[in-house]
Amino acid sequence: MYSLIEKLRDTQELTKKEWIMLIEHLSSAEDNSSVAEYLFAQARTVRRAQYGKKVFIRGLIEISNICKNDCYYCGIRASNKNAKRYRLMPDEIFKCAEEGHKLGFRTFVLQGGEDSYFSDDVLTNIISTLKARYEDSALTLSLGERSQESYQQLRNAGADRYLLRHETANDSHYSLLHPNTMKLETRKQCLFNLKKAGFQTGSGFMVGSPYQTTENLAEDMLFLKELNPEMVGIGPFIPHCDTPFASYLSGSVKMTVFLIALIRLMLPKSLIPATTALGTLHDFGREKGILAGANVIMPNLSPESAREKYTLYNNKLHSGAEAAEHLEMLKERMNKIGYQITIERGDCLCTNTTPNH
Ligand code: 5AD
Repeated sequence: MYSLIEKLRDTQELTKKEWIMLIEHLSSAEDNSSVAEYLFAQARTVRRAQYGKKVFIRGLIEISNICKNDCYYCGIRASNKNAKRYRLMPDEIFKCAEEGHKLGFRTFVLQGGEDSYFSDDVLTNIISTLKARYEDSALTLSLGERSQESYQQLRNAGADRYLLRHETANDSHYSLLHPNTMKLETRKQCLFNLKKAGFQTGSGFMVGSPYQTTENLAEDMLFLKELNPEMVGIGPFIPHCDTPFASYLSGSVKMTVFLIALIRLMLPKSLIPATTALGTLHDFGREKGILAGANVIMPNLSPESAREKYTLYNNKLHSGAEAAEHLEMLKERMNKIGYQITIERGDCLCTNTTPNH
């Protein structure tokens, strides 16, 4: 196993067979085993060579939980009648950003369901206002699948980055997680379109989603290699009580941190968050993520009333160090493990795109 880890570190590549062997082996290893310690140490060394011990922060603004899609795993799926729906108006979004900028955030992430209210024109107005007010800040969107023209318009309006997880790179697995109105091919096309439009692009997947196999995870790694995204977000699947997957088990924290480390070795310059889902499943989840090679944390800047309603899965964290207003707490927690929160924009070192200013 050590030789596969070294091969990945040295060549940033493995074959599908090798991925399966390595992931299979890790799934039966403890996270304090010597192979795990070795993997994490290699990932930290690679991350340190690129980004030092900095942890970038992003202020997450959850702009709407209205969604036309019906993904089987997601708490804000269209057919969940128990979800209390909300949408932030542009002025409310501006207020969140103002608060966030005062707190020291220099990246804002507008994330939401696929809500038709947020047309290209509405978003263009929001983007250009935010970019004019906060010239020193980056703007990230995470608003699902849109047309190439739409992505281009949002990019031209000044948005810098876009997050769109592929969720799983296997066709039949994709169709077990989504209704047949949604296609993996479309999702992949959107990701390539985002890159073409000049966005720093983020993708990723859930770890331990229902029906996921080791082969699927190997395929996720191969797809990420092909896409070569600037950002990769992965987190454990966590069931939501009002979805078809209510009774499925959560993904494991251990497998998530192993995969974070492997992604760091495969894409050394990538920006990898220690996600909220990781923090939700384990008190020390974010720290574990950082110690496995992650270098981003995305505290919540949404208004209190929105936070409760943006429930993608059960028990989603939105207080404590997860809350943007408790940045001091997060800083202390990172310092304790030898890392420092920084307020830089934190663009990807690998970006081919010129940041919008
Ligand atoms: N558990 C974990 N992550 C989830 N997401 C959606 N539902 C869940 C869930 N039940 C993730 C998806 C999506 C991101 C915004 O949240 O990967 O892309």
